[in-house]
Amino acid sequence: MRKSALFLAAVITASALTGCTETSEHISVPKLSHMSSESESEAPVSSDTSHSTDTSDSSGAAASSDTKSSSTSESTSSTLNASSSSSVKSSSSKTASSTKKLPEKSSSKVYTSFEPELKDGVPEGETLTVPSGSMLEIDGDFRVEGTLDCSEGGLVVVKDGGRLQLDGNAVLNGCMRIDEGGEVCGDGVLKLVNNFDDIDCKGGFTAKIDPPAPIEKNGVTYVGGILLVNKQYALPKKYGSGLDPELQAAVEEMRKASGFTMRISSGFRSYTEQEWWYNYWCSVDGEEIASTYSALPGHSEHQTGLAADITRSELDYADTPEGKWLAAHSWEYGLIIRYPQDKVDKTGYIYEPWHVRYLGKSTAKLVHDSGLCLEEFLGVCEESE
Ligand code: DAL
Ligand code: ZN
Repeated sequence: MRKSALFLAAVITASALTGCTETSEHISVPKLSHMSSESESEAPVSSDTSHSTDTSDSSGAAASSDTKSSSTSESTSSTLNASSSSSVKSSSSKTASSTKKLPEKSSSKVYTSFEPELKDGVPEGETLTVPSGSMLEIDGDFRVEGTLDCSEGGLVVVKDGGRLQLDGNAVLNGCMRIDEGGEVCGDGVLKLVNNFDDIDCKGGFTAKIDPPAPIEKNGVTYVGGILLVNKQYALPKKYGSGLDPELQAAVEEMRKASGFTMRISSGFRSYTEQEWWYNYWCSVDGEEIASTYSALPGHSEHQTGLAADITRSELDYADTPEGKWLAAHSWEYGLIIRYPQDKVDKTGYIYEPWHVRYLGKSTAKLVHDSGLCLEEFLGVCEESE
């Protein structure tokens, strides 16, 4: 049997809760009387900052500043005491209106501090809000059939051995960290309000994520901070200046880890270069066939600097030891196979076992674990609805 233990803790560093990237530490760890001595041990928030670079500059920074207002000044911690029952409030329209998929009946209770009756989870029709400056830490089984509402400046941590079974809704305005050995599962939906870099996932994540709608900034489309280019969404003609250094570093890491060549055979391609190639392939195969493997100028991921062709752009690359390694492990290095074999109808392109897209480790893991292609994951193709 898994232990069932969690607590809300006040967090000392307000700024740590405005992104998932900084270290925070407990000022106090209120404990529930049912917690075992093992689960009572101090559990500091990870100081791992790798996830801060998970969505690259060009994909994340601009959108991030657009969609997430700073809460640093607001999140000076109001100390929560998990054993206090004084914070139980009646139904709040604020929480109810922020979820997409709500229980039929309105919430009967909204909790803003952890209460003993929530020790196993949040029942249907009820809401647990993690306020700004607070952390909900899960290190056992915790089932949400109602709503888990993480406010901006709040943090949900699913620790090693923790399992958040999401059968209802979660609304993530703040941050979520899933440690290695932690798990978020269930048939429910996590509504991501801001950016994917608000989720730091090193554990398992199989619940559905409902991402924010696409936004356009200077002619570039972002979904939750992820730059999106495909047959539908284009880039401005002058966009792009070279290969992203994080992508280069990720390929270098793969090269060392795998022992294979992992040569970037095609990296950044400008609009003009893509135009040349597209016209060339049209002259070889005709427009209809060429457009199944070559993007129109302005529509190629290569123009973002976040995509690369690895070693050999031929279908049988998938059957080589290197191609197999790339398919199995690239997500561990922050990359996804962008045009999978079984997603041709969603991506609009044939299987390209050589073409990888850099997303950063956490987001690449989320995409990989979802089994979806990027269009489905970002909720931008009809078929994924
Ligand atoms: N081969 C991919 C689709 C491109 O041309 O960008
Ligand atoms: Zn490519």
